[in-house]
Amino acid sequence: MSNETVRSTADATQSSVSQAKPQGNGSNRRSFLKKTVVAGAAATVGAGLLAKGVPAFAQKSSGKSLPSGDIAILQFLAAAELIESDLWTQYAELGGIGDLPPIEVDPNEKLNPYQIALSNLDPDGPQYIASNTLDEVSHATFLNNYLQSKGAQPVDLSQFATLPGSTAKGSSGQLRITNLMQLNVDTSWYVRYRSTSNPDAGAKFPQAITLNDVTAIPRSDADYKGASNSNFEGNDHIQAIANVAGFHFGQIEQGGTSLYAAMSQKVTDAEVLKITLGIGGDEIAHFLEWVDFSGNGVQAPIAPFTDAISGLSFPNFFDPLDPLIQPSLIFPVPFQFNPDLPNVAMIRPVTDKFAGAQAAVAALTASGLFIGQSTEFFDTLSALAEAADAAQRG
Ligand SMILES: [Fe+2]
Ligand SMILES: [Fe+2]
Repeated sequence: MSNETVRSTADATQSSVSQAKPQGNGSNRRSFLKKTVVAGAAATVGAGLLAKGVPAFAQKSSGKSLPSGDIAILQFLAAAELIESDLWTQYAELGGIGDLPPIEVDPNEKLNPYQIALSNLDPDGPQYIASNTLDEVSHATFLNNYLQSKGAQPVDLSQFATLPGSTAKGSSGQLRITNLMQLNVDTSWYVRYRSTSNPDAGAKFPQAITLNDVTAIPRSDADYKGASNSNFEGNDHIQAIANVAGFHFGQIEQGGTSLYAAMSQKVTDAEVLKITLGIGGDEIAHFLEWVDFSGNGVQAPIAPFTDAISGLSFPNFFDPLDPLIQPSLIFPVPFQFNPDLPNVAMIRPVTDKFAGAQAAVAALTASGLFIGQSTEFFDTLSALAEAADAAQRG
């Protein structure tokens, strides 16, 4: 797709953003995010594990308290959503599109090279990134306010926002909880959802593509410029970074998909189940888009290509055709849920062992997302995860 086509599509996209602005409070996306983060920070107490105080959107307690297991589940999910919000905000600042003018690296370009590279994977990609970010912030904010409305403590991870992020144009420069610049992206989900084997029965899946110690965002303006030190024209470097991001989006959202399914099986209260099924469904909606999106980076006209700077190569997954990585197989392929029953198309894994809170923390940690974090951060997350996994229905 030519730059001209990308730009005109993105222009149309951007005008639709304003109409679709969800807050309706007259503030732009970035000020909304900032406000939410500040509200969380004001609530920090003690070790920072659980926050007291009244967040900006707090409701009055309903008087009906929740089972302790449900509280533990909601608290872990709130932590997971704060982590999602932190990483998605980084993607949104650099690659998303919102009410602000596009980030201009070159005054002749309306989008920065990362936004263009993401648009090459889907012309609406920057809008989807902005929308996914708003969704995660809404999940975190809602869960914490729901906990508080039930007289339970919300979760605050703001004290762990200690990691320097990208310095590229567009970055707010704020300190982060997560690190998107040294990722080992687990791409086995891409094969798992095309395989008939059951991960909950212990099946293992190979990586669709090896992405170790890679950045998913431009770390500085140098990453915008690529090998030619020019703008996007033929910039394989920023395209490789966008491709990494696409697979990372999928890794994160399939994880959320499985986590909510695993947690929902342990919930006792009917309203909490309504919430976990409802938010879990939104994670699935996100996941589907990123399955399609990531596959666009490993087929023509994007692939095959090699980034001479990072050395990353992206083959064409259609050539040769292999159903285990075929990009157009975007829906979960029917798999063997039970050997005595017909294969069925569903999300997986859905058991605690492979999809629970501790499994999620282990997977995120292995992915390098928390490189640079403190022992206290890991202790906090582990304690929340252990309590959530210990919850039992009824
Ligand atoms: Fe979420
Ligand atoms: Fe998500």
